[in-house]
Amino acid sequence: MTHNTRDEALAVVILAAGEGTRMKSALPKVLHRIGGLPLVEHVLDTARGLAPAHVLVVVRHERDQVAEAVLGVAPEVVIVDQDEVPGTGRAVEVALAEIPEFAGDVLVLSGDVPLLDAGILAELLRSHREAVAAATLLTAVVDDPTGYGRILRGANGRVTRIVEQRDALADEAAVREINAGVYVFRAPELRGCLSRVGVSNAQGEKYLTDVIGLLRADALEVAASVTPDVSLTLGVNDRVQLSEAGRALNARTVRHWQLQGATIQDPDTTWIDVTATLAPDVTVLPNTHILRSTVIATGAVIGPDTTLVDCEVGERAVIRRADATLAVFGPDTSVGPFAYVRPGTQLFAAGKIGTFVETKNSIIGEGSKVPHLSYVGDTTIGRHVNLGAGAITANYDDLAKHRTEIGDEVHTGSHNVFVAPVRLGEGAKTGAGAVIRKDVPAGALAVSVAPQRNVEGWVEDHRPGTGAAQAAARARSAQKADDGAQESHG
Ligand code: UD1
Ligand code: MG
Repeated sequence: MTHNTRDEALAVVILAAGEGTRMKSALPKVLHRIGGLPLVEHVLDTARGLAPAHVLVVVRHERDQVAEAVLGVAPEVVIVDQDEVPGTGRAVEVALAEIPEFAGDVLVLSGDVPLLDAGILAELLRSHREAVAAATLLTAVVDDPTGYGRILRGANGRVTRIVEQRDALADEAAVREINAGVYVFRAPELRGCLSRVGVSNAQGEKYLTDVIGLLRADALEVAASVTPDVSLTLGVNDRVQLSEAGRALNARTVRHWQLQGATIQDPDTTWIDVTATLAPDVTVLPNTHILRSTVIATGAVIGPDTTLVDCEVGERAVIRRADATLAVFGPDTSVGPFAYVRPGTQLFAAGKIGTFVETKNSIIGEGSKVPHLSYVGDTTIGRHVNLGAGAITANYDDLAKHRTEIGDEVHTGSHNVFVAPVRLGEGAKTGAGAVIRKDVPAGALAVSVAPQRNVEGWVEDHRPGTGAAQAAARARSAQKADDGAQESHG
């Protein structure tokens, strides 16, 4: 559904002032995240899909935090401060006071109902306008209505009013049709009713839901649209519902990418943020998290057991059992198993970050490999380099970080330490166990370990009676017997 032109007769009010007591959290409820974005941001995205003339977000609890999050993604939004009168009705009332001349339709959305899509809202608005109703609400028939407002209908089947869970009588509470917290009202009638809503209910709040009963008492038309997809109307009031909404959103996201041509072997254990992108013919194996603005190119194989945060993955890259953040992997690269790739890592085409390797703020050139048991930090590696197993860049001297530079075609021995700042020229080689403290010229061999010296008989002299001494003695006498036999035959 795309809207190019602004709908001048539409204002959207998003309710985000509540404390969210049931979350038991220091963070305001609407800033808790699913699919990588705060709840309120999902609602904003959906609202903006309708191209309304006004978007107003009502805040109060932790208002600065909520306002900052909202304005950060939608600077055109009008932030409205709710006063000390509590309740969803009061929230809408203060929002309407910001647009006193507006006489069109007001779509009210809750900052804690994140899964709606623009299509269902456009349909709600269309049916509202077609029916020329004073209000149209979205309802859902659910198995467990606990916590939601119940829709009460008269003998003719028409909505008479909404009763909140805490104010409901037993037979009312048994109703399984619930208020989704999503409504369209005609602004003049809404203003009129809100001024008449009181606070005599279990919570002492000015309920928006009371408007429905008042409209009907005035013999005005109230329409209700029952959604066929209950999961869209899920409200988040506690952490159980937060995880349910997160799972439902993730299922939707996974399905979307599957239909776009990605193979996702196990949707239940694959988590993809709404901000990530997968090309066709990407394969995702179980237990994999693809987060934030990660982009994965065609042919790449990700997982199992992999987390990518804000990464760019090239064509045909293979990333297994790895944890990577803010990294770029070129085409045909190979990562893991068991790699920890930290921000600022750039692995160029056909490069490798292998097993038990940690990298940070480093460039690894085309075709270069860091295959085993290494730490590479603040390093620039040229093309076709091979770092031996156990390479460590000592980048930190207790005061500052320093860079290691390794030229094209360098091959280093196992278990080297590169004490930065240090540079290895093109084609240089190093011996096993070298500690490289000084620059190595292009084409040189650097060795830094003392020549080996064997002290014969040391173990039997200094560790008599141990298993090692006994084994050494056995080996020595076998050797002697061998030597004797050779002599007698020779
Ligand atoms: C509300 C509805 C209920 C519906 C449910 C759907 C009312 C009285 N009840 O209940 O019928 O089934 O949503 O999810 O409307 N808010 C404000 N200012 C306030 C109070 C709340 O802006 O003074 C905001 C909250 O931040 C939240 C939204 O309004 O985003 C809904 O408030 P909440 O307390 O969650 O209402 P529910 O109990 O879920
Ligand atoms: Mg709620």
